[in-house]
Amino acid sequence: MLRLGVNIDHVATIRNARGSPWPDPLRAARMAEEAGADGITAHLREDRRHISDGDIDALMAHLTLPLNLEMAATPEMQAIALRHRPHAVCIVPEKREERTTEGGLDVAGNDDMLAGFIAPLRDAGCRVSLFIGHEPAQIRAAARIGAAVVELHTGAYCDLDTEGRHAERDAELDALREGAALAHDLGLEVHAGHGLTFDTVGPVAALPQLAELNIGHFLIAESVFTGLDSAIREMRRRMDAARA
Ligand code: PXP
Repeated sequence: MLRLGVNIDHVATIRNARGSPWPDPLRAARMAEEAGADGITAHLREDRRHISDGDIDALMAHLTLPLNLEMAATPEMQAIALRHRPHAVCIVPEKREERTTEGGLDVAGNDDMLAGFIAPLRDAGCRVSLFIGHEPAQIRAAARIGAAVVELHTGAYCDLDTEGRHAERDAELDALREGAALAHDLGLEVHAGHGLTFDTVGPVAALPQLAELNIGHFLIAESVFTGLDSAIREMRRRMDAARA
């Protein structure tokens, strides 16, 4: 079955807008579990613009679902991950000025650094995932340096769909399909995420090599209108329908 990881970063974004304790990301994580999520994802950014260190402490102490900690490849984040030893660590590129994670990691261009960075995390028992584009060179480099998982960036596919550029969207989906097949053939577990919505999730969920999708912003946005439980259940239903 295709797993759904619910990213709760933007529950924290809303909380931080007022500096109040509400809404509580841990409560959102528990509700996501009730609604059928298989895991919780949280991105501890260098600038702590959404998830805080305290959120990670609370999630690690109280969450029963596996936590996927997204983070940049920095010594500070490595130390935090080694202290908590979450189920999974997803390494993402991070630029202070970006609104969200804009592209994938350049694993091919930083293979020595990343190999050294992920080794202690792997030794500590974390499943290490690398957030990359679908380029074969990046996928091959991820396998070569010993990652367990690659998460393919679906942001461009989703943006092209939103912009109505359907021919380019379909070409992007084809490239994701080929990337997923290559990664799977190389023995990597394949995840995907970024920008997925009710409209875009189906064709991605249908890619047979995928084991997990990580979805956040749209679910939190939709929950303003229908509630988090309902938004997650509808996403789960669409994922299952695509696999049926
Ligand atoms: N996967 C990764 C690696 C991400 O960095 C993000 C965004 O934090 C997501 C998935 C989820 O993206 P979105 O919030 O657009 O659903």
